[in-house]
Amino acid sequence: MRIYDRYSDDKLEELGLSGKLPKHVGIIMDGNGRWAKSRLMPRPVGHRAGMEALHEIVREAHCLGLEALTVYAFSTENWQRPVQEVNALFGLLTEYFAKEIDELDANGVRIIALGDLGPFPEKVKACMTDAIERTASNKGLRFCIAINYGSRAEITRAVRLIARSRIEPEMINEDLISRSLYTGELPELDLIIRTAGEQRLSNFLLWQAAYSEFVFTPVLWPDFTPEEFRKCLIEFMKRTRRFGKVVE
Ligand code: FPP
Repeated sequence: MRIYDRYSDDKLEELGLSGKLPKHVGIIMDGNGRWAKSRLMPRPVGHRAGMEALHEIVREAHCLGLEALTVYAFSTENWQRPVQEVNALFGLLTEYFAKEIDELDANGVRIIALGDLGPFPEKVKACMTDAIERTASNKGLRFCIAINYGSRAEITRAVRLIARSRIEPEMINEDLISRSLYTGELPELDLIIRTAGEQRLSNFLLWQAAYSEFVFTPVLWPDFTPEEFRKCLIEFMKRTRRFGKVVE
C-alpha cells in the first residue's frame, strides 16, 4: 500500500496544468467491449482492463488534488446486457474494493455511491457499503461511483422525496432539486469526459451537466492513461466558460 503525494505547483506547471483545474470531473468509461473485441477476447476481459485503468485515474485525480471524480460504472440500462457480463461486472466491483480499499482509505479518498444499490447481490452491496462507511469521514478526493445509476431515475427519486416532504410548490427551487439529487453534497460538475468516441450523455448526470464542459476522446477506456486524462484537463483549461454571461 502506498501513500501518494499531491503534485506540487512546480510539478503541475511542468505538466502544463498550472491554472484553474476542474473541481469535479465525471467520466463515461466507454469502450471496454471494443477493446476486448479488437483482441478477439470476451467483453469481461475488457472490463477487467478497464478496472486497471480506473485504478490509475483515481490515483491521478488524487495527486492532482481534484475535489470529486464521478465514474459511470453501471447504468440502469446495463441490466439488459447478457447475464454473464453483468455477473462479471459485479465480480469486478467486489474485487476492486477488496483490492483497493486500504490504499484509497490511507490516501484520504472518500467513496460515495450514486444510484440504487438495492437490486445488487448481497456481496456487491456489502463491499460497497463497507467502503462507503469506512471512508465516510475522509477529507480527500470524493470518488463517486455511479452504479445502477440513471439520471432520469435520479431526478424522479428527487421529485418523490420533495413531494413526500409536502413542501409548498412555490418553495421548490433549483437549489432544492440539486440538493435532493445523489450529488447534492458534491461540487458543481465542471467537466465530463467520454472515452471511445461516442458523443452523447447516455443518461449520465443530465441535471448536473447544465454548465459542464465536454471532452470526447477516441481513446478506449482501457487505454485511457493518466497522460490522456491530463490532456483532457488541459483541453478543459483552454475553454472560456461563460455560464450564459458576456465575457470580454
Ligand atoms: C462501457 O463500455 C463500460 C461499462 C458499462 C462498465 C465500466 C466498468 C469498468 C470500467 C470496470 C469496473 C468498474 C469498477 C468501478 C470496478 P462498453 O462495454 O459499453 O464498451 P463498448 O461500447 O466498446 O462495447
